[in-house]
Amino acid sequence: MVKAANPVEKKTEKAEQRCVNRACGARFGLRERIYVCSKCGETLEIDCHLLRSNDPAAVRERWAAAKANPKLPRDASGVWRYLEMLPFDDDAPFVTLFEGNTPLFHAPRSAKYCGLAGLRLKHQGYNPTGSFKDTGMAAAITQAVISGARTAVCASTGNTAASLAAYAARAEFQAAILLPRGQVSAAKLAQSLDYGALVLEIDGNFDDCMRLIQELGDDPAIYVANSINPFRIEGQKTVAFELMEQCSWQVPDHVVVPGGNMGNSTALGKGFQELLDMGLIRRLPKLSVIQAEGAAPVARLFANLTPGQRAGEEELPEKLAIVENPKTLATAIKIGAPVSWKKALRAVVRSHGQVIAVSEQEIADAKAMIGRDSIGCEPASATTVAGIKKLVAAGHVQPGEDVVAVLTGHALKDPDYMSNYHRGTLAIDSGAKDSAAPPKPIHGAFQNAPERVAATKSAILASLKQRH
Ligand code: F0G
Repeated sequence: MVKAANPVEKKTEKAEQRCVNRACGARFGLRERIYVCSKCGETLEIDCHLLRSNDPAAVRERWAAAKANPKLPRDASGVWRYLEMLPFDDDAPFVTLFEGNTPLFHAPRSAKYCGLAGLRLKHQGYNPTGSFKDTGMAAAITQAVISGARTAVCASTGNTAASLAAYAARAEFQAAILLPRGQVSAAKLAQSLDYGALVLEIDGNFDDCMRLIQELGDDPAIYVANSINPFRIEGQKTVAFELMEQCSWQVPDHVVVPGGNMGNSTALGKGFQELLDMGLIRRLPKLSVIQAEGAAPVARLFANLTPGQRAGEEELPEKLAIVENPKTLATAIKIGAPVSWKKALRAVVRSHGQVIAVSEQEIADAKAMIGRDSIGCEPASATTVAGIKKLVAAGHVQPGEDVVAVLTGHALKDPDYMSNYHRGTLAIDSGAKDSAAPPKPIHGAFQNAPERVAATKSAILASLKQRH
């Protein structure tokens, strides 16, 4: 934990939690440990009461200076450097593993693959535990410490769990994790074990784990650290600030993210909106969210919106038809009942973006292409490049436009998937519990299987020549 040197005016007295249901509009203090509105049950968000800056250039310079020349220990964190945008006071017990500060890569091969002149990839997999979850977890565990809870819990498809386990360990908190048994990559599960968390494997899917977490949230000793927790969203929104700095404040035309529980898209949408409200940017990038076809409740809803709803002129639907038995090899986003769908959909519509779904084959090939660009990512992250290719083909993204995709997890998060793709053994089963149908193979268009060669120089040279 990093303690701040000079406490200043308390801004948390002004910030508050508010219900996202406009008809309800209930407001709650920051210290109230609730995760959904106690009046109507809707999700909450934090209103930081940010004011329009009369000197945006000075704000930008302040942030740049904090990054280039950190004066406080917390400035080395890509979350806490933006403290003025966050609902925490200067003397908060900041928890950090020096998250954020992730690279923005040019990806020329992926750009060509998508039909674009250029494409940049903001790689959140370069965070301390290898996924984008760390920025949100820094904020959530800091708030957990402030709240006086003793145990932090989450449901997870693997990455939230690894992140919670690490940040809880840093704050000397107990961490308990609910995972769908047999549906989480071994690498992610191993991380949680290594960080010392209590790992509870549940017979059910992620949505079942999430339901249990919402019940556990009533216990005063327990702090829920899923993205339903609005403090997580606050930490995660900082990626929008860091990205704009890396883009020298030139707003990209499109920002594209994967969609699972829809916390990430909510956070990016909030981050860009706050920059706009403060006068730090002049327009929003179009925010588009990509889901896997077998776990795409929001893409389905979006496809059925009226033109007026898409244009933000008519009310958005109140109900989402959930996917009972979600199915995808991108296990991170194998989610049928996303909790933050409403906030995310509003952000997409406000920015004139899209929500679409991509197939398992499209995800697998896009992932290999990102690998060829020397970057790599886990399968869920590759939905972005697969989705951009489709959005270009459909005319929603123009070939010359400035596009940034947010990669959410490191390539080594799911080595089995990667190895199976390249060896030609990747396959997805039908998903039906009693189905006897054989698994459907996924052909690797960019397959790169290892070769067995004789232990001689001539055999190696022959192999090289053949591949050249
Ligand atoms: N990409 C990765 C690598 C993820 O781990 C997740 C979500 C997403 C994308 C989707 O983000 O849920 O904010 O829309 N993983 C969660 C977890 C559910 O438990 O690790 P989202």
